[in-house]
Order: sequence, then C-alpha cells, then structure tokens
Amino acid sequence: MTTLKAPPPNAAAPVPAAVQGLPGVADAAGSAIGATERGWQAEVSEIEHPLAHSRYQSPLRYAGAKSSLSPVLARVLLAAKQSREVRSIRLLVEPFAGGASASLRLVGDGVVDRILLADADPLVAAFWQVAAADSGRLIDRMRGEWSRYVSHGGSRAVARWDHWRSWTPPRHMVAKERRLSSAVRCLFLNRTTFSGILHGRAGPIGGRSQQTPYDIGCRWNPDAVEERIAFIGYLYGTGRLVDVWCKDWRATLDDVPELYPQLLPSNVVAYLDPPYIDKSALLYRISFDPAGGYRARASAADSADLHLQLASYLRRKAQFRWLLSYDAHESLTTSRALYRATRMNPSRIDQLQLGVRRWTISKRLVATRYSAGGRTGKRAAEELLLTTLPASSIPTDDGLRPIAPPGERDHAADNADRTSFSGSSPNA
Ligand SMILES: C[S@@+](CC[C@H](N)C(=O)[O-])C[C@H]1O[C@@H](n2cnc3c(N)ncnc32)[C@H](O)[C@@H]1O
Repeated sequence: MTTLKAPPPNAAAPVPAAVQGLPGVADAAGSAIGATERGWQAEVSEIEHPLAHSRYQSPLRYAGAKSSLSPVLARVLLAAKQSREVRSIRLLVEPFAGGASASLRLVGDGVVDRILLADADPLVAAFWQVAAADSGRLIDRMRGEWSRYVSHGGSRAVARWDHWRSWTPPRHMVAKERRLSSAVRCLFLNRTTFSGILHGRAGPIGGRSQQTPYDIGCRWNPDAVEERIAFIGYLYGTGRLVDVWCKDWRATLDDVPELYPQLLPSNVVAYLDPPYIDKSALLYRISFDPAGGYRARASAADSADLHLQLASYLRRKAQFRWLLSYDAHESLTTSRALYRATRMNPSRIDQLQLGVRRWTISKRLVATRYSAGGRTGKRAAEELLLTTLPASSIPTDDGLRPIAPPGERDHAADNADRTSFSGSSPNA
C-alpha cells in the first residue's frame, strides 16, 4: 500500500521504463517530426476537409479514447474564449496523446487554432509522426497489409499478426524506414488486436482460431483508415498540426514555453489525459506504472508517486493554462497531495523567473460513456475535469457538475490521505 504524500518539489520527471529493454521500440520515433522541433508558423490555412467536423477522425482505436468527452471540452474551451483573459487558443498541447481523439476534433471544429501531440510511447509517437509527414507512404503500406494479409483472414492474417507482434527493425535499417515500419506495426496491431491494445496478453480479434463472427479484419476498413491518415497529413501540411513529439509529459510541458514563448501565458492550453489510476498498466504500453505496461496485473500502488508528480507540477510549475481529465477517483479531489487545492501555489522564484501564476483550479464532474478494454462494450462512467482556465468562464450545469467545496469533505480527505490508490474508484 502506498501512502499519499507530497513528492519533493521539482522531483525529476519519470523516465518511461517500459521503453528501456524493448528492442527496436525505443528509437522508433524521433523526439520531433523533423531533426529539431518545428518553430512557430504565424500563418495557418483554412481547414477544408470532409473529416474536419466528423465524429471520428483518429486512425487509431484507443482504450480510454476521449471522443465522447470532446463536446464537453469544446464547451469549456469556447466559454473560456469568451473571457477577457483568454480570447483565443492558438495552440492546444496534448502531452498524453494516445489516439488524440479530442485534439483532432477540437482543431477540426475550429475551437483551437493548432494542436501539438506528444506521447512517451515511441510506437504511438512514430505512428503520428509518419501519419503527419509521410501519410502517402503510410497509406500505401496500410493498403498492402490489408490486401496481402488481413483481407484473407484465417491463418494467413494471424501469421502476419505474429510477425508484427514480434517485429524488431533489422540492424542496418535507416532511421526513416524504421520509423515508417514502426508506424505500420502500430497501426496493424491497433486495428487487429482486441480493444486496440498494443502489448501484453491481448490477442488478435477473433482469437487464434478465427472461429467467431468478428474476425481479425473486422475493425480494418481500408477506405476509412486511408481517409483518416490523409486527414492527419492534411492537418500537418496546413500547419494545424504543429508537430508530434516523443517525450515524457514533463519534457513536453517544459519545452512548450521554451519554443513558443509568444503564446504565454494564456494563448496556449494543455489538455492532459493521463493513464487511468486503476487500469493503466493493463491498457497502455507506457503507463504510469514504473514497471511499464507489461505486467499481467496492474499495480496501482507503484504508479501513485507518478500521479503525485504530475499533480505537483500542475499545481506549482505549469506556465500555461491546463485542462485535465481523469477517472473520477475520490482521492483526486480530497487529497492535498493531488488536487484538493483550489488555487495553484507556485514558489516565489517560479513566479518571478518563469511567470507562473496562481490560477484558480476549477473542478467539475462529467457523466460519460467509455470503453476501457472491457468485454461489455461501452459503459457509463464519470470523468473528472480540472482546469486553470478562467474560473468565472467554466459552465456549471447538469453536464458539468461542480464538486462540493473541500470543507464539506474534510472527513473524506483525512481518510483519502491515509489510504492508497489501490482502493477501487467509487465510480468504477
Ligand atoms: C489515457 S491514454 C490517452 C488517450 C487519449 N486521450 C485518446 O483519446 O486516445 C494515455 C496515454 O499516455 C501515454 N503515456 C503514459 N505515460 C506517459 C508519460 N510519462 N508521458 C507521456 N505520455 C505517457 C500512453 O502511452 C497513452 O498513450
């Protein structure tokens, strides 16, 4: 059992341990699409693409994907843009991008001008980097995989699944080809594996015998996948997708102010969707579980410190506004080491040197339906939204229910501070 206690200020960012020791994975992606991070482009073109306003735009199926939360995020961001403090959101940064469903929808609908995606999982980052900058070749490879293997189904398709599951790049493969093949590997496994999970014990859809009505190719519609990959290339080409980084969340949040200082503090917003507290190590290759996402049983206790580090950073160090979604675990808003505080509390030095503000932290509960790798399809859930967007602009209604002030929950807080994340969520 891990007791919740505040981490030391400025605690070092976690190095995603799951990357180490995975042959051919760690160097699948570069830290950015180009040799260096892409600079700021003042001009962006109008978005005129058939997928721009569509409900689903991501080529990846992702456990915990936030498509159903996107309209709520849009409401919150649009309301913030009515405030004197924000007015426009020129860049939305998503440090835990995964399937990036929320970012794609928000930029497609014009809620934000541009997006920047980042993920610590090199396979996921390689996918987005190639989809952005080399979409034509990725589409060709996707169609080749479909026509030569997946469309045939049966043992031929399952043998190809085994191939990609164990694939490592040949030693002398040049970096660009390694990245392309890693992107194909990510897409293939995502489209053909149960729940889109890229690791662990999840097997091919339809099982190895393929004796079910839903076979390995049932989630692979080549025309739809092609259109979605082309949309990513379009966003990159028009400057709407600024870059794709393969970085730990903390490096992403530290590097944005360095690279785009002209956006501080209020024209850039981070949308953070970290791995769930209860299930993350089962769902993602890189989870907050320091042992990586490979263990058959998730150890929520092991990951607790890393959730605390994120909270400490967001409460004390974030130089721009943020919007955070979490599974509604009670301790998140009752523990002082997490998000019980109603305001950010930066050090005097960070206030003076980095301009970190004391923004109010607003909290809302959102009823949603999500699929997180369960067998029962989508189920009702509650999501917690926390944000430093201007407090007076955040809507409060049945769709965005306020959380009772901390004073009314002192008893719960005391208990939460004594217990661990390993208890199940009240909403699970
Ligand atoms: C909950 S998922 C994000 C899902 C996404 N919002 C969507 O709609 O598909 C969390 C993501 O965080 C990534 N991740 C885990 N630990 C990370 C870390 N330390 N830094 C950056 N990304 C991390 C995982 O690889 C995973 O893709």
